[in-house]
Amino acid sequence: MKYIVANWKCNPASVKEAKKILAGYKKGIKKSKKAQVVICPSALYLGLAKETLKSLAALGGQNCFCENGGAFTGEISAPQLADAGCGYVIIGHSERRKYFAETNEYINKKIKAALAAGLVPILCVGETREERIEGKITEIVETQIKEGLKDIDLAAAKIIIAYEPVWAIGTGQACSPEEAAVVSQFIRNIASDKIPLLYGGSVNVANSVSYLSEAGFDGLLVGGVSLKPEEFCKLVADAITL
Ligand code: PGA
Repeated sequence: MKYIVANWKCNPASVKEAKKILAGYKKGIKKSKKAQVVICPSALYLGLAKETLKSLAALGGQNCFCENGGAFTGEISAPQLADAGCGYVIIGHSERRKYFAETNEYINKKIKAALAAGLVPILCVGETREERIEGKITEIVETQIKEGLKDIDLAAAKIIIAYEPVWAIGTGQACSPEEAAVVSQFIRNIASDKIPLLYGGSVNVANSVSYLSEAGFDGLLVGGVSLKPEEFCKLVADAITL
């Protein structure tokens, strides 16, 4: 079973455009037991996505708050995401770490909140270009995993880890499948073997299969290409053939 996760980020700018993307998904995604498609739109479009896609894809949030509710202006809680139809939530994306100063400790709290609400957290980890040059890939990834998943029973909890080298996100410079495979093996060694592992960072129709076949990942976290329904549906179709 492969996971193909769409991360729309802060896009698109209108309901009209969101409807267009979702209509493209509806037309192009073939339902299959071999692939679980998870769409993570802006929270504003979750209702629309649920109504349009029905059982064709699962839904996910792009983030959640660590408390279940209360006086926290602007936040969206894990129970709210679950109630909106989400089964998953992306946590600790590098853009949240960078622009919203999210620490591993804070991410750990969010993961616990997500699990308590019955959501599958997708924990994002990965090194920056500087960290890669300094030879710190495994050190960074290990700290993000150990601290992000602190006090969580990995044998019991349903969690997904996404390896997203920060320098490969949105740059068109994907990490080579060979290099990504080394990190995926490292992650499998330090975390539980049963945790599905995704690759993310400039995934496109030309490189997607190589991560799922030779590099041994269980799925993909797709940003830019997820806004192009024809290409995204091709990624899904290709994953089903494996
Ligand atoms: P990208 O983004 O596919 O546009 O590189 C991936 C991500 O940030 O999850």
